[in-house]
Amino acid sequence: MAAVAESGIDMPTAKGCAITPLREEEVFLEPALSHAARELLDSADFLHGLAHSLGSPLNILLPAQIEANAKAFTSVFDRHRIGGAVYYAHKANRSTALVRHLASTRARIDIASLGELQHALASGFAPDRIMATGPKTPEFLWLAARAGVVVNADSPSELDTLGRICRSHGIAPVSVMVRFSGFVNSGTTVMSRQSRFGIHEADVRHYHNVLDGYRDELELIGVAYHLDTIGIAEKAQALDGCLRLVQEFHAAGHPVRAVDIGGGYGVNYLASEQQWEHFTTALTEAVLGQRESFTWRGHGYGLRAENGKLRGALSLYPAHRPLSGPAYLDNLLTQQSPVWGQSYATLLQELMLDLVVEPGRALLDQCGIALARVLEVRHADSETTFIRLDINHGDVSLEEHGVAVDPIVVPQQDPTRRSEAGGGYLIGNLCLEADFISRRRVYFRNMPQPGDLLAFPNTAGYFMDFSADHALHQPIARKIAVTADHRWCLDDEYWPIDRQALTTAGGDTQ
Ligand SMILES: Cc1ncc(COP(=O)(O)O)c(C=O)c1O
Repeated sequence: MAAVAESGIDMPTAKGCAITPLREEEVFLEPALSHAARELLDSADFLHGLAHSLGSPLNILLPAQIEANAKAFTSVFDRHRIGGAVYYAHKANRSTALVRHLASTRARIDIASLGELQHALASGFAPDRIMATGPKTPEFLWLAARAGVVVNADSPSELDTLGRICRSHGIAPVSVMVRFSGFVNSGTTVMSRQSRFGIHEADVRHYHNVLDGYRDELELIGVAYHLDTIGIAEKAQALDGCLRLVQEFHAAGHPVRAVDIGGGYGVNYLASEQQWEHFTTALTEAVLGQRESFTWRGHGYGLRAENGKLRGALSLYPAHRPLSGPAYLDNLLTQQSPVWGQSYATLLQELMLDLVVEPGRALLDQCGIALARVLEVRHADSETTFIRLDINHGDVSLEEHGVAVDPIVVPQQDPTRRSEAGGGYLIGNLCLEADFISRRRVYFRNMPQPGDLLAFPNTAGYFMDFSADHALHQPIARKIAVTADHRWCLDDEYWPIDRQALTTAGGDTQ
């Protein structure tokens, strides 16, 4: 309670002695920040200047970071002496700057639509560095085949359509991977969840049938999975299945040389494990009515109370994840296969198989920040403060993706400003009850004020533009790319070249 009094937050009186009032420090969820992101967020004048010129909301991208992240993945391959490639799952962000920047590195790209394929080609990716995944239209398949990118088929019928396109257009051979999503249980208790993509290992004959029918058109180079889970055991089981399938395809005369284990390496969003644990405990207790609620209308993020018992499952992303990104891949490769009795890294080496990974979220770790102007701080009643922002839940879709992390206040210069702690629900610019940027009360050591900016760090992976639209004719955030020395340009004006140096050098040689 002392902390509450010190903070100056006007806490409502708990009704009934069993309910513990919240202590504000229990529900901070401070973000993990890279050095570059911290430097940027410390540059209040620069950020206010950008928002003044380019409006709110505004998305900032840090292209140099995606290169560093790709290198960190590659170094895991090197450490385990495994060949293969890192494909950036483009779907996680529409930015052109990121794709162009990555094109100038050794990384490759995983595209999941016709538009993404065109974008990758136009951004400098040669076809041999592109792989097509996801559900595909005939047009998408035609361009993929025509350009000569690897096609990762979701199903036998998709593979069949590709085969027909190749035959009728005289395009051959096209390198393909085939996707699986269910695997024979190899004696462990791990359940593999159902997926709408890929087929079960037990149905492999359907892929065999198509491949046999298009021996001249389709060359099988790999087997693939992408599982929407963070469970290492489930992924290890899938790897066992893939190794079995590789052997089976080899026996059938297909020169399979790669295993594609998809994306899903995750990101650590939070600076403090303790804060995350305090938050989840406080949420559970609030749902059970054991302490004051700190979510809008008692929202439980998947949890509910029934007869005094906790029911449901927390629908939030595990925002504190020390084992994420390249470290997660490293851990997976070091696991011992219960089937083969060796680590997956050793198995891949011995079977001379390339490893393919398709990280989206993890390659975008610390690559972007969303800025929003604070329009109003309204104390609706003694318990409720709304912080209204010029951004909406489609522009920064943290709620939709279940990621709980605090934004950072970028104050405007105001010598008369009094700093005080507080908290409030973050609401957006849509005329819609549901437009919450945060349904949990966000606590601040210094309450934001109208005219300040709120910076949402680490939004590049899925939260930035995946759901953004023009509802109510609200503007979609402009995107800009910012360099380490804080030079910036519009996202689609970014090219990974130093124009100034090139024009000077060109002038000298004339
Ligand atoms: C086939 C495939 N690969 C890669 C990814 C990227 O996953 P993540 O962003 O979790 O790494 C996805 C995400 O949906 C996917 O469907």
